[in-house]
Amino acid sequence: MFNREKTELKRVPMMPVRDMVIFPQMMTPFIVGRESSVRALEDALAGEKKIFLATQHDASMDDPQPDQIYNVGTLANIVQSVKLADGNIKVLVEGVERAKVVQVTAEDGFFRATLRVVSSRIEPSPQLEQIVTRVTGLFEQYVKLSQNLNYDSMIAAVRADDPAKLSDSVASNLQIAVEEKQELLECFDPLERLTRVADILEGELEKLNVERNINTRVKRQMERAQKEYYLNEKLKAIHKELGRGEKNELEELKKKIDAAGMPKDTHEKAVQELKRLELMPPMSAESTVSRNYLDWLLAMPWKKKSKEIRDIAVAERILEEEHFGLEKVKERILEYLAVRQLVKNPRGSILCFVGPPGVGKTSLAMSIGRATGRKFVRVSLGGVRDEAEIRGHRRTYIGALPGQIVQMMKKAGTINPVFVLDEVDKMSTDFRGDPSAALMEVLDPELNHAFTDHYLDVEYDLSKVMFICTANVLHTIPQPLQDRMEVLRLAGYTELEKLQIAKRFLVKKQLEQTGLTAANVTFTDEGLQHIIRHYTHEAGVRTLEREISSVCRKISRRVVKEGRSVSVEVTPANLSDFLGIIKFRELWAHKKSEVGLATGLAWTEVGGQVLATEAQLMVGKGRLTLTGKLGDVMQESAQAAMSYVRSRTSQFGLPRDFYRHLDIHMHVPEGAIPKDGPSAGITIATSIVSALTRIPVRCDVAMTGEITLRGKVLPIGGVKEKLMAAHRVGIRTVIIPKDNEKDLADIPPEVRSELTICAVETMDEVLQTALERAIEPIAPGPVSEVAAEYGSEPDADQNLTN
Ligand SMILES: Nc1ncnc2c1ncn2[C@@H]1O[C@H](COP(=O)(O)OP(=O)(O)O)[C@@H](O)[C@H]1O
Ligand SMILES: [Mg+2]
Repeated sequence: MFNREKTELKRVPMMPVRDMVIFPQMMTPFIVGRESSVRALEDALAGEKKIFLATQHDASMDDPQPDQIYNVGTLANIVQSVKLADGNIKVLVEGVERAKVVQVTAEDGFFRATLRVVSSRIEPSPQLEQIVTRVTGLFEQYVKLSQNLNYDSMIAAVRADDPAKLSDSVASNLQIAVEEKQELLECFDPLERLTRVADILEGELEKLNVERNINTRVKRQMERAQKEYYLNEKLKAIHKELGRGEKNELEELKKKIDAAGMPKDTHEKAVQELKRLELMPPMSAESTVSRNYLDWLLAMPWKKKSKEIRDIAVAERILEEEHFGLEKVKERILEYLAVRQLVKNPRGSILCFVGPPGVGKTSLAMSIGRATGRKFVRVSLGGVRDEAEIRGHRRTYIGALPGQIVQMMKKAGTINPVFVLDEVDKMSTDFRGDPSAALMEVLDPELNHAFTDHYLDVEYDLSKVMFICTANVLHTIPQPLQDRMEVLRLAGYTELEKLQIAKRFLVKKQLEQTGLTAANVTFTDEGLQHIIRHYTHEAGVRTLEREISSVCRKISRRVVKEGRSVSVEVTPANLSDFLGIIKFRELWAHKKSEVGLATGLAWTEVGGQVLATEAQLMVGKGRLTLTGKLGDVMQESAQAAMSYVRSRTSQFGLPRDFYRHLDIHMHVPEGAIPKDGPSAGITIATSIVSALTRIPVRCDVAMTGEITLRGKVLPIGGVKEKLMAAHRVGIRTVIIPKDNEKDLADIPPEVRSELTICAVETMDEVLQTALERAIEPIAPGPVSEVAAEYGSEPDADQNLTN
């Protein structure tokens, strides 16, 4: 299809080449070393400087025969030749035209070939243009992608040439197999050659593209790998500088996990977590979380145990040494310890000390720790409303921590400490979530060997722990919890006991804490008693201890200022120098008896309490108002007292419907302390009767007892605490329900001997003792008279008799 073809015959020396195909248009340098080739070259140089270059079939062959050489080759000009030092010749040839061998003759050591040289021209056509555009386009891309070609020179070569030669200049630059090149050389039709070149280019481009993609991917990966490698190396260097090797650390962790003595499941969990940790970037947030978790698992005691002291005699000695009095409580503790040694899980096996503040609940629990050779930890449940405080937060929360139980076990460092749960009664009073349910699980011997904390997320065995609870009152502790407990009550101390405790323990402790010696300060008995009487007002010894401490601190200051030789004797006379003016001057018994003011005995969180109960009458509509933080039960017993009074109008000489025109306001001061319980019944009734009859109540008589509608007096709780409170404030006559007489056995003899106790069955007996004089029935009069005496203006036309 080529338009013009010029053919001529030529005879020129022939030189076989290996491993390459010389195309027309191609400038090629190469080294000539073979004897036959040198001869051929010399012959050519001597003549027209033309030589026929054809590729041999097998590149490894040194002496190819004419039939071992392709019969299509290129006629070339020898542009340059240089003889090298080693005898080889370096030549530069320029391809002229393709030629086909017609005949070969052997001459003097080389071959001479007779050739048919073909040069073809092609006429322009749309088809040609299209194919040329395609080839140049593809070739441009090819040059761009291929790294071995010089872009500028290649493009120039392609542009400058005429279309017939384009295929050859492109072909000569392709990096394809020798055989493929030879095929192109043997193709004499320029258009077909162009088409073939285009196809080859397309194939090559595809290969190059794939390669390039792979390359960039490989490169990117390498870059990332390099970057990571670099950063990791740097990190290692930093760690090394800081003295901890990342790898070592993980290995260390593994060793620790294996050595921690965890149960199987927990161990598995820890190992699993460690594996996760290894995969995390060392400084990431998640690895910190993971590491913290492992640290917690490792910090927990899993096996470590204190060696228990099982000798009851030792326990007895320690309890005796560290606490004065409390004989019954100590005995029960020793029994408890003995039973624990014999029975594995006795029912109700949790000790619970109940009593007002400062009576030694916590410090007794600490003594039990020492007496049994266990570690001691304590958690205060006062104000705990959230289950999470006991059981922890799940690890998914940021900043999550285990609950108090686990935290304290970590602190204990052994699996069998004495664990004090302080103020269990304060927890359940205002709970949110349900901390008491979690606490049940902690205290239940059937459940607590597999306690689960939300954070730790593995079962933890609490069964070896000795739990001890403390509480101020029992009634706010949920019943199921109470059922688990063995309750020991500590009522409070008498003045004498307090004096002994102060002399033997508190003073010594405070001297130590304030850095004084016994030479610096002596507390006389009278001095201590003065503190107890006039600076404290409590069932326990907490304030007493604080006041003693405050005296010591003042003396410390003087020692620092004036030197070690300071020596002070603390007596009633100089106490006000240290503690200021006395805080509780008036003893109750020295007060004046008043109308409508009765003295009740209550049992509150701070122990036995003496409470004034006031009743005030006003003209009104029969309302009964109660103030002073009184609980529901107390409100009801006020109603009951009121009904009792109304049923006795004639006996008290009152108009039958007096209440219709009066409002009664009852108030119990000390408003901050919540008060509840039925035991104020007789006190309320007494103050109402006193107010209505205008007979004063004896201020040196205190009372406690529940009242029925018919005026019977029913037994109440806390007699010991109440009597001691009355005694403390100097009241010497106490009215109690007859049925409570049995409780008097518990009262310390020094208190009992100073009290006059009236055990009563009816309200009438109460009034006989409590009121200053007997009630004389008075004749019913107009309301104006009654009301006038209460200081209010009566409604003119109202009449008591109606
Ligand atoms: N019977 C006692 N003998 C010696 N010290 C006591 C006695 N009772 C209480 N204490 C001391 O009084 C202080 C208060 O006791 P604490 O145990 O804190 O009371 P609670 O826990 O009941 O509120 C402690 O220093 C304690 O050692
Ligand atoms: Mg305490």
